Amino acid sequence: MSTITVTAPAKVNLHLEVLGLRPDGFHELAMVMQSIDLEDRLSFRNRADAQVVLSCDDPSLSLGEDNLIVRAARLLRDRSGFSELGATIDLTKRIPIGAGLAGGSSDGAATLVGLNELWGLGHSRQQLEAFAAELGSDMPFCVSGGRQLCFGRGERLEPCATVHTPLAVLLVKDPTVSVSTPWAYKRCRELNGPTYLKGEEAFEQRREDLRSARWLKQLAADCPPPLRNDLQPVVEPETKAVQQALKLLHRLPSPLAVAMSGSGPSCFALMPSMDACEQARDQLAEAFASAGLRAWCCALQPDGVTIQVE
Ligand code: C5P
Repeated sequence: MSTITVTAPAKVNLHLEVLGLRPDGFHELAMVMQSIDLEDRLSFRNRADAQVVLSCDDPSLSLGEDNLIVRAARLLRDRSGFSELGATIDLTKRIPIGAGLAGGSSDGAATLVGLNELWGLGHSRQQLEAFAAELGSDMPFCVSGGRQLCFGRGERLEPCATVHTPLAVLLVKDPTVSVSTPWAYKRCRELNGPTYLKGEEAFEQRREDLRSARWLKQLAADCPPPLRNDLQPVVEPETKAVQQALKLLHRLPSPLAVAMSGSGPSCFALMPSMDACEQARDQLAEAFASAGLRAWCCALQPDGVTIQVE
């Protein structure tokens, strides 16, 4: 029986700018997302009983209707018109849950890609991104990943110049803490709503500023991203794990920039190379451990979800 194996990488936000509020109640965003090589792994096998059965090596993950893997499988089957399709899905979880790293979104995107292949549905990547947009704002990015500009709710994708860069990411997170994304955006609106931009013209001006940012074209140690995240000043004052992570990352000898990712609580330092990243992690290993933080050294990844050839 054939098995399809797919990797689902995490992302960090090199830029997350909250522009304003949309008529649908979501926030209008201007982001640069970047895949990193911290990955979940999913395998897919056909079932004859029209069930979608998910298992995971992390018992803390909900496997019910709220799981984006289950929702993605159902959506793909419903749209195919073949109600007899079923799958057994095994998830090996490496991306921390509720971390601001799009782990759940990437797993959902991997399910669309994996089942499209297993069930022989023949949808294009663009069609899969359109399905992904129905399930979550970060999910379309995760399908092809790499480095992309993300506008709208996050689902309007534009390619970035794919410059090669030796930069690496030192990522830290308290494994016992997670942040709710709806809470973070609600708090952002409470604090910053009065100063949000209004109108498409103002939004487009900010998009254009981001498209032409010099750092985006070079992405090198002498031209690193300024790492803006508008949710950071919202989440940091209320989340001790974020305060501690940022404080320790700022103690590194050579970080190019430091920020929270997404709605947190993961934080990261951009480092000039993987060697510098590993040295920095070793140097702060004890401090991370005594603050209860886990640390990962990650390379920037050029793609999103990838089907593994066995
Ligand atoms: O789309 P997703 O399910 O990831 O969004 C989770 C929640 O985050 C939304 O229900 C909304 O409260 C908030 N959100 C937002 N604006 C966005 C994306 C998410 O307000 N662009």
